[in-house]
Amino acid sequence: MAEHVLVIGGTGMLKDACLELAARGYVVSVVGRDTGRLEAMMMDASAAGNMLSPLEVDYFRTDAFTQAVRHAVELFGPIDAVVAWVRSDAREVLPATMREVSAAGRSWRLFEVLGTASKDAETPRSQPDLSPAGGLCAYREIVLGFVPQPGGARWLETSEICEGVLDAVTSDRSTVVGTVEPSEARPR
Ligand SMILES: NC(=O)c1ccc[n+]([C@@H]2O[C@H](COP(=O)([O-])OP(=O)(O)OC[C@H]3O[C@@H](n4cnc5c(N)ncnc54)[C@H](OP(=O)(O)O)[C@@H]3O)[C@@H](O)[C@H]2O)c1
Repeated sequence: MAEHVLVIGGTGMLKDACLELAARGYVVSVVGRDTGRLEAMMMDASAAGNMLSPLEVDYFRTDAFTQAVRHAVELFGPIDAVVAWVRSDAREVLPATMREVSAAGRSWRLFEVLGTASKDAETPRSQPDLSPAGGLCAYREIVLGFVPQPGGARWLETSEICEGVLDAVTSDRSTVVGTVEPSEARPR
């Protein structure tokens, strides 16, 4: 049976990663708020002969978000992997995801996408509390860095972000896309 991947915040910079996962045979459920962006993604997938399942919901509305994830599981079966690109102030999203995905009683993987700032020495970000997953969740992080180049450095392009996310999910590992060091070399 095809693996079911839930991508939270998948309609922006992660759009092409979602489409590529669908092209590789994963069942992909995508969370976003904007109907137009979700519909455009579904049409792109369908034009390529693939399918994406839209979950139109504001993840700050925890009950509605939980219901949407439950609906995706009802439609396509238990979730094997979650890619989470979530605002740092949306503190309920990961615990709610852990509870709902783990309700199936199977082990699964959480790939949290993080910005360069998550590696700041002054404000180090710690791994989220995995206890709501009841021991069923394996945590991986995908840190978005920058690319050093002569005369400065640049932020990652969307295509590089998507390649990094695909690589992490398909090889099941944490990764840093680009680099986060040295911090003083970051683009301004
Ligand atoms: N190197 C780095 O450290 C780094 C870090 C971060 C970003 N960036 C760059 O910044 C660019 C833009 O970043 P962005 O944050 O605007 O990301 P984005 O991926 O373009 O958009 C955010 C995603 O989250 C969804 N979303 C946001 N709030 C939501 C909510 N309350 N409920 C449900 N879904 C929600 C959005 O869907 P809706 O539009 O439908 O709400 C969208 O799918 C990226 O393309 C990247 O190049 C770089």
